[in-house]
Amino acid sequence: MRLARHGKYAVEQVWDAAKGDQIPRFARDDSFFCHSEERSGEETGHTGGAPYHPYMRPLPARRLAGFGTTIFTEMTRLAALHGAINLAQGFPDFDGPDFVKEAAVAAIRAGRGQYARMTGIPEIHDALAAKYRRDYGLEYRAGDEITVTSGATEAIFATIQGISDPEDEIVLFEPYYDSYKASVLMAGAVPRFVTLEAPDWSFDVAAVERALTVRTRAILVNTPHNPTGKVFSQSELEAIARLCVERDLICITDEVYEHMVYEGRHVPMATLPGMRDRTITISSFGKTFSLTGWKIGWAMASPELSAAVRAAHQFITFATATPLQHGAACALSAGPEYYEELLAGYRARRDYLVAELARIGFAVRPPAGTYYVCADFRRFGFEDDVAFCRHLIENVGVAAIPPSAFYDRPAKGLGYVRFAFCKERRTLEAAVERLSSLSPPGRGSG
Ligand SMILES: Cc1ncc(COP(=O)(O)O)c(C=O)c1O
Repeated sequence: MRLARHGKYAVEQVWDAAKGDQIPRFARDDSFFCHSEERSGEETGHTGGAPYHPYMRPLPARRLAGFGTTIFTEMTRLAALHGAINLAQGFPDFDGPDFVKEAAVAAIRAGRGQYARMTGIPEIHDALAAKYRRDYGLEYRAGDEITVTSGATEAIFATIQGISDPEDEIVLFEPYYDSYKASVLMAGAVPRFVTLEAPDWSFDVAAVERALTVRTRAILVNTPHNPTGKVFSQSELEAIARLCVERDLICITDEVYEHMVYEGRHVPMATLPGMRDRTITISSFGKTFSLTGWKIGWAMASPELSAAVRAAHQFITFATATPLQHGAACALSAGPEYYEELLAGYRARRDYLVAELARIGFAVRPPAGTYYVCADFRRFGFEDDVAFCRHLIENVGVAAIPPSAFYDRPAKGLGYVRFAFCKERRTLEAAVERLSSLSPPGRGSG
C-alpha cells in the first residue's frame, strides 16, 4: 500500500518477515515522470484498479509552463538535425586561449578540487577588482563587493531573486536576452517593457518614464545589447541613470559584451554620477575569453546589494567550479594586447559578414557592439522571422535566431534575423556561400 510521496519517491508499507511486522519502504515512483491531467482513482472516488497518483497534475509547474524550450536550444537542435551551419547560438566555434586552459589544468593538478568560497576565490576577487580599476576607474572591494557566479545567467537570476518581492516591477528593454523575463517571472515579479525601435534601436525616454510605477524596483540595461548589437550612448545611459536616482531605483546592467565595441565606447552604468552604489554590474568571462562552457560570471555591487545577490546565490549554486575560477583569475590578468587582438578579430568578422549580407540582399547596418548582427530579410518576400529561420535551416542550410522570441509582443520583431559571427572565418564563408542562394523576389527563386 502506497503511504506518501516525497518528490520522485514514494513510501509504501511492506511485510518484513524478520521483524514480523509491516515496515515503510522508500521506492522510486516512476509515475512522477508521467505527465497527465488525470486524477488518481482515490482522488476521484474511482477505486476500481486505477493507479494511485496523489499529486498528479500537469508538469512543469504553472510558474514555468509558459517558458517552453529556449530558442537557442531549439535552433541548435534543428541546425544539427538538418546539418545547417550554426550561426544561431552565441558561442565561438574556436577554442579559448591556452594560457587560460593551462591555469585551470594546473589548479586541477594542484588538487584545487573542493568547494570554493561561496562568493568566489580570493584570486578572482583580486583580479576583478584590478580589472574594473584599470578599465573603468571603478573601485570594488575584494571580499564584500564581488560575487562570482555560474555564468552571467546565474548572476542575473540571483540578482533578480535577491532584490525583488512578489509584484515588484522590473523594466526591461525589448528585444531582451531571454533569461531576464524568465528570471523576473520566477521571482514572482512583473516585467514592464520598453521597446528599442528598429532600425537604429533607439528608445524614447518618455516611454521609460511611462513604464515606471510605485512598484518599480529596478531597470535592467544590457549594453552592448544582444540581439541588436546596440551600444547604449552616454546620453541614453545618463537619461536612465537620472530616472534611477530620481525614483530611487536599482539598475541592473548586463555587460557581458563589454570588450566587443566597434564604434563609440563601452560606458559602464556604475561610472555615472549617483550610480555606483545603486548599480549591480554583471559580466562574464565566457564571451571575452571564448570559453562560454566554463560558465564563470560575476556581479559587482555595493556591500548591501552584494548581500542581496548572495542571499540567493548561496542557495542556487553556492559556489562555482574551483579550478575554472583559477583559470578565469589568470585570464583576467591579461594585458591590453589580448583585448586588442580579440576586438580586431571580431571587427574583421563583423565587416566581412555585414558586407556579404548586404550584397546578398539583406537590409543591414553594422552593429556597434557584440558578436551579433540583426538583418532585415523582408526583401526576400518573407514577413515572419520564425518562418524565415525555418526556411534558412531546412532549405539554405544556415541556422540563425528569430528575434521575435525576445519580445513581449512578438509581432514587433518579425522582420529581422540574428546571425552570430563568433565563428571561424571559414565557417562564415561557408555560411555566406549558402546564403547566396537566397534571392529577392524577381531575381530568381528565394
Ligand atoms: C546578454 C547576455 N547576457 C548573459 C548571457 C549569458 O552569459 P553566461 O554564459 O556567462 O551565463 C548571454 C549569453 O549569450 C548574453 O547574450
